[in-house]
Amino acid sequence: MPVLPPGYSIRRLQARDFEDVVETLKVLTVVGDVTRTQFEETLAYWKSVTLKVGAHSVPTYNPHVVVNAGGRVVATGTVLIERKIIRNCGLVGHVEDIAVAKDQQGKQLGLLLIQYLTDLAHETGCYKVILDCDEKNVGFYEKCGYRRCGVEMDHRL
Ligand code: ACO
Repeated sequence: MPVLPPGYSIRRLQARDFEDVVETLKVLTVVGDVTRTQFEETLAYWKSVTLKVGAHSVPTYNPHVVVNAGGRVVATGTVLIERKIIRNCGLVGHVEDIAVAKDQQGKQLGLLLIQYLTDLAHETGCYKVILDCDEKNVGFYEKCGYRRCGVEMDHRL
């Protein structure tokens, strides 16, 4: 059973993580010239969007980070909770934007983050959790307990 290295922890993304998170996300894709203000506005928006689950109000956006013993963000990822009409107005979790800093890869941080986000979604009541990934990451997600299902398609401008 993998565990975080000593001193590492997983917590929700915070405004003070701006520089670390932008840097970490660069291993995933182009981040662009995101300013601190844009970052903080996005966090505030994410915080404002909630859905009702039973008697509770829960966040739709669940951005999380792995922080090392020195307080540096070394991995990041999100799970979004979607309310549907089908499956008796069921909930589906969408895992998005997983990135582990280059110098921290291979320490089981990605796997532990995925497990954390997946558990969060199921504990919130999601009947399934899904994600899109490159062919090269299929083996990683299989190690995280996911299985190949369907075909990813996109439409871009
Ligand atoms: N293919 C096959 N197996 C893999 C891969 C891979 N690409 N990457 C890791 N694994 C295996 C590891 O060997 C390990 O196996 P073990 O338990 O037998 O030793 C297991 O999966 C867990 O690996 P971790 O150490 O947790 O992986 P890591 O922390 O390095 O994170 C990740 C993997 C997230 C893919 C990282 O390499 C990364 O950030 N890559 C660049 C960004 C990226 O592609 N992100 C995913 C985008 S998809 C999305 O966001 C939904």
